[in-house]
Amino acid sequence: MSQQYDRRKFLSRLWSWSAGLVAAAGTWTTWDVLKPKASVGAGPVRTVSPDEVPSSGVLEIREISGYLTRVEDEVVALWWRCPHLGCKVPWCDTSAQFECPCHGSVFNRVGEYRRGPAPRGMDHYSTTVESGLIVVDTASITNGDAPGDESIDEPPIGPECLEGGEG
Ligand code: FES
Repeated sequence: MSQQYDRRKFLSRLWSWSAGLVAAAGTWTTWDVLKPKASVGAGPVRTVSPDEVPSSGVLEIREISGYLTRVEDEVVALWWRCPHLGCKVPWCDTSAQFECPCHGSVFNRVGEYRRGPAPRGMDHYSTTVESGLIVVDTASITNGDAPGDESIDEPPIGPECLEGGEG
């Protein structure tokens, strides 16, 4: 009887420890995904050839904590930090727009404001092309535009990634 009791106690403790570890791992992963990375402000970062930048999607570049996309011949470099409270804003492939998981701000492919509590569009980096590569200056950031008309005509193409989102 006492052996059975010890076994139950042991399994109960093991279960509690496992649940605690899973919760800690989940918390760490969530923070790691959502926090803005420290590379911003480091200065010029050489990235990719202009030919590699998509015109109908975005290319995530971890080294600049942001994304590259293109509008005709112009490359747009966006900082992934949400202008509301600073969460990382991921690209949603199914809707083809940026959707912030923290409070639901939504931005179009070039980072222009669509809806939500963010006060403006996503911020931009300055870029140049040197020796055939796009150089993103992570120390040169321009605030995104205030909410208003969008400069590209690209409505969402499908369901949003946000829980309870439109589409
Ligand atoms: S941090 Fe993105 S909507 Fe609040």
